[in-house]
Amino acid sequence: MKNTVVTFQEAKQKGEKISMLTAYDYSIAKLVDNAGINAILVGDSLGMTMLGYENTLSVTMEDMIRHTSAVARGARNALLVADMPFMSYQSSVYDAVVNAGRLIKEGNAQAVKLEGGLEVCEHIRAIVNASIPVMAHLGLTPQSINAFGGFKVQGKGEAAAQKLLDEARAVEKAGAFSLVLECVPEKLATYITKQISIPTIGIGAGAGCDGQVLVYQDMLGMFADLKPKFAKCFGNIGKQMTEAFQNYDKEVKEGSFPAKEHTFKIDDTIIDKLY
Ligand code: KIV
Repeated sequence: MKNTVVTFQEAKQKGEKISMLTAYDYSIAKLVDNAGINAILVGDSLGMTMLGYENTLSVTMEDMIRHTSAVARGARNALLVADMPFMSYQSSVYDAVVNAGRLIKEGNAQAVKLEGGLEVCEHIRAIVNASIPVMAHLGLTPQSINAFGGFKVQGKGEAAAQKLLDEARAVEKAGAFSLVLECVPEKLATYITKQISIPTIGIGAGAGCDGQVLVYQDMLGMFADLKPKFAKCFGNIGKQMTEAFQNYDKEVKEGSFPAKEHTFKIDDTIIDKLY
């Protein structure tokens, strides 16, 4: 059954956990969807995992639309959320609505995600007023990496913890249907989860959140550039892929691949007639 924003709300009310993973292309979307994962995020993390950038700042609307539409073709049941890339919404409320609309119309997403607290509440309100569901994102918001001075846990001090709670309440009030909490101390994320009525989706925020999200390459051991503490490896597929590539290389070079069963036949008389 297709997951929707209503499914998210119902899951919170029933105390059922929500699973979410990133995907950036059709084949992975199909695998994730077939596994029964509730939601797929086409994260702007694709800038790092798919495009090899150092951070997410260079990702464009065109990148997001291309990858979102590919994922949409493979995601039959999972709720499809697309990230709004850096500077596609911060610049103005107008830009925010127009670009959120493009992710829905051209990317076929069901919802958009954007980073930030009080400073984006007006943007969230306007996008929601255009009938586009918004997932908010607080804590370590990678688009603010230059302001944070690196990938660091957020909300540790008293003032920072209070600010995070206030901002969670503010994005809920602005109309967000859900909230990602990234790299937030577990007790704080649990407290925030209890204080708001929309589901929290944690990444590096402990088990007290209503759901969890991971970057699929992290949980499959496929991305060695950055290894966050919270990213449990659920299967070392990266290692298996390397071994498969090495076996292919070996067989090509020794001439054992392709074997007879991988080839197509032609009548010898045709070959004999060639000059
Ligand atoms: O871009 C992304 O993949 C994200 C998740 C890490 C939450 O924002």
